[in-house]
Amino acid sequence: MDIVLATRNEKKVKEIKRIIEEGGVSVTKIFTLNDFPGCPDVQEDGKTFEENAVKKAVSVSQYTGMTALADDSGLEVDVLNGAPGVLSARYAGDSADDMANLKKLLREMEHVPYEKRRARFACCIAMAYKDTVKTFFGYVEGSIGREPQGKSGFGYDPVFYPEGYDRTFAQMSNEKKNALSHRGKALREFQKYLNEKGLNL
Ligand code: IMP
Repeated sequence: MDIVLATRNEKKVKEIKRIIEEGGVSVTKIFTLNDFPGCPDVQEDGKTFEENAVKKAVSVSQYTGMTALADDSGLEVDVLNGAPGVLSARYAGDSADDMANLKKLLREMEHVPYEKRRARFACCIAMAYKDTVKTFFGYVEGSIGREPQGKSGFGYDPVFYPEGYDRTFAQMSNEKKNALSHRGKALREFQKYLNEKGLNL
């Protein structure tokens, strides 16, 4: 069966495709929202990652008639009471890019000592098909550095040190990041579900 990823973010698409393909789930073809230019944008106004992911997956599945997979994810920083959270993509304003968001985060944490810089990435993946919706979660604990390091990945990767590593996500290979990341973990939960149910998308 075909599947549509409810995102236009090409970097996310690449990551998700790679993880789905590595996991041996047999997907005939993976579409993205770029294949459906008329698909209406969904307002990500939920209070949780789960609310947003479900909303996106249901809307895209209804529009395309296909199984839709949506992810909503973000960074939660303890000393900022969980911010940027669901606002991660728009932390520095509605049209802010990754660099502006990252700079704002570093500014706000300028005086925060090393031991108080704990954070985690969280991800909820929602799968919607007809009346069925399932959600899968993944988390990765870590801490926020003082300056960007590394060039791969996207978003807050250059300042996020996963627990137990002295390299940021942006200094890791795609394979290494996928093995540790919130999105990788949530997608592997999704794969487990498909394998247990004997479903093949
Ligand atoms: P979403 O597209 O609404 O899920 O927004 C997620 C935002 O959270 C992204 O724009 C990034 O700022 C941040 N984010 C989520 N996952 C990651 C990741 O794996 N690395 C770096 N930043 C991420």
